[in-house]
Amino acid sequence: MAEKLDLLEKASRQEQYQNLLPQIEAMLGGETDIIANMANISAVLKEAFGFLWVGFYIVKNEQLVLGPFQGQIACTRIGYGKGVCGTAWKEKRTLVVPDVNAFAGHITCDSQSRSEIVVPLYNKGYVAAVLDVDSEHENYFSETDAMYLQKIGNLLMPT
Ligand code: SME
Repeated sequence: MAEKLDLLEKASRQEQYQNLLPQIEAMLGGETDIIANMANISAVLKEAFGFLWVGFYIVKNEQLVLGPFQGQIACTRIGYGKGVCGTAWKEKRTLVVPDVNAFAGHITCDSQSRSEIVVPLYNKGYVAAVLDVDSEHENYFSETDAMYLQKIGNLLMPT
């Protein structure tokens, strides 16, 4: 399957997510491989929104290990409770960080990053991965992103 995305121009972020959700659902449809699906979701979000960095970290042996992503090269391992990703894992909640420089312990992978959102993805009640999105703009993410990125995460990894 290789299809062109149908993207909305000049729409609100919410309308853009609503337009994307069924396309992501269709894209994931026949595929059960989680890495393949993470790779395509990263590509969709990067293409649709032009985010600075979009990707997944996967829980392996008590660490987060870099998974499929779109953007500049990134740190490969993050400890439990470390950085925004490790904190979202530890606290089992989505973190919206309007200013990464104000987040104690933020791990800088791309010096252009100014704001970030990290959404935990669950398997049988445990955090199995996180979806991390970075922007070069401050205060770029809201509850709208949190809600729709969680929905996208649920398509990838139904709880
Ligand atoms: N900033 C993240 C590290 C991952 S990169 O942004 C891709 C953090 O503090 O956990």
